[in-house]
Amino acid sequence: MGLIIAIDGPAGAGKSTIARRLAKRLGFTYIDSGAMYRVVALWARRQNTDFDDLHRVGQLAEAASIDLIDDRVLLNAEDVSDALRTPEIAQGASRVAANPQVRRALVAKQRAIAEGRNVIMEGRDIGTVVFPEAQLKIYLDARAEERVRRRSADHPEAPVAHVAAELADRDHRDQTRQESPLTQAPDAVYLDSTGLSPEAVEDAILKIVRARLTNGKEFQ
Ligand code: DC
Repeated sequence: MGLIIAIDGPAGAGKSTIARRLAKRLGFTYIDSGAMYRVVALWARRQNTDFDDLHRVGQLAEAASIDLIDDRVLLNAEDVSDALRTPEIAQGASRVAANPQVRRALVAKQRAIAEGRNVIMEGRDIGTVVFPEAQLKIYLDARAEERVRRRSADHPEAPVAHVAAELADRDHRDQTRQESPLTQAPDAVYLDSTGLSPEAVEDAILKIVRARLTNGKEFQ
């Protein structure tokens, strides 16, 4: 097992941006676990399967071949990266993520992808469920208004009130579901990125990485 850095937190906290930058900096493999839930939602949508149909969606999650190659996401060898970033698929991902069969299937895939490598994996349950033994866990947060602002910048076509309602809805579902809800692991470092640039957040985490994982020595 390589080194594992787990970054969890709500939507719009900056997890992907930070995890990507850190992975590049440290030479780790970046794994976006949320993309995998989005893939299952996309496949269900394409099959006209209701997101809440536990049995069928669970089967799709088990059957899906999901590859994360650099910044691209493949479903059964098809590059579906762009189709994953719509508000409908974001909501669908949050709904299929409450399905225990889906979670079991995707957690197994996440552990398999990380096997034998140094990884930075981001999501909602990485430090609590997927890798409770991770060497470093960060809980990355930001105030709701800021998270809405960031999400709105990604979707300038959508009314801000709509983006805010969708984000609140998704966070509430992700935090209150029975199976692996989003919570801070007791041994995670809490970081609030409100008002901070990506550089500042990256530096703060790098300091912790150096102190914890390398006894002051640089990676690479
Ligand atoms: O990080 P994201 O916005 O791409 O994630 C989409 C949804 O997937 C999110 O609303 C909840 C779910 N998810 C999860 O339940 N567990 C994870 N480890 C990652 C994402």
